[in-house]
Amino acid sequence: MIKEDNSKEFWETVYSAQDHYVYGKEPSKFLTEYVDLLKKGTALDLGMGEGRNAVYLASKGFTVTGIDHSPTAVLRAQKLAKDSGVTLECKESSLDFFLIPLMKYDTILVTDFHPSLTIMNNLVRGLTVGGTLMIEAYTKDQLKVRRDPPYVFECFEANEALRMAKGLKIIQYTEREIYGEHRVQLLGVKTSMA
Ligand SMILES: C[S@@+](CC[C@H](N)C(=O)[O-])C[C@H]1O[C@@H](n2cnc3c(N)ncnc32)[C@H](O)[C@@H]1O
Repeated sequence: MIKEDNSKEFWETVYSAQDHYVYGKEPSKFLTEYVDLLKKGTALDLGMGEGRNAVYLASKGFTVTGIDHSPTAVLRAQKLAKDSGVTLECKESSLDFFLIPLMKYDTILVTDFHPSLTIMNNLVRGLTVGGTLMIEAYTKDQLKVRRDPPYVFECFEANEALRMAKGLKIIQYTEREIYGEHRVQLLGVKTSMA
């Protein structure tokens, strides 16, 4: 049994063990509900997985880059993009030491992925002015109900998403049981260069 951690080997085992889309092809409901409030333009999907959210954003006119270290997930994302008739830049790469380029993205998406400290500290800096950050993930409370999945390492501490969005104007924030699961949902906008 492979150790459960955020490693490439672990995620590759999760994806390659199944011949279907493990996280489905449908985008997150939070994303579909709030997509009109996201800043249109360049979008970055961190820990894109099999592409359900990246492809949805591309279908809405965003120029999307998705990054994930699992080759199987990236192949599925490319296939989903092709089947959906959209263009998606897929990067098969580790995010462990990834530095988000300064003020490059109009929207950054983090769904069911727990970023490294380096990324956390650079999320806001990576946004253009007016840019939007969307985070949706399990909280640690979910582990009391069910686990593996979600895995301990992908669950957010209380208020952790808020700390990642420091400096943004918060448009939507909730940390509670939603759709029968303990989730955090955050949408923030960068109102100035600071
Ligand atoms: C729970 S899945 C969520 C996928 C997608 N965001 C979604 O909502 O469907 C987490 C994803 O993050 C990726 N991931 C985790 N740690 C990573 C890292 N350090 N570098 C690149 N990808 C990573 C995994 O390969 C996996 O596809």
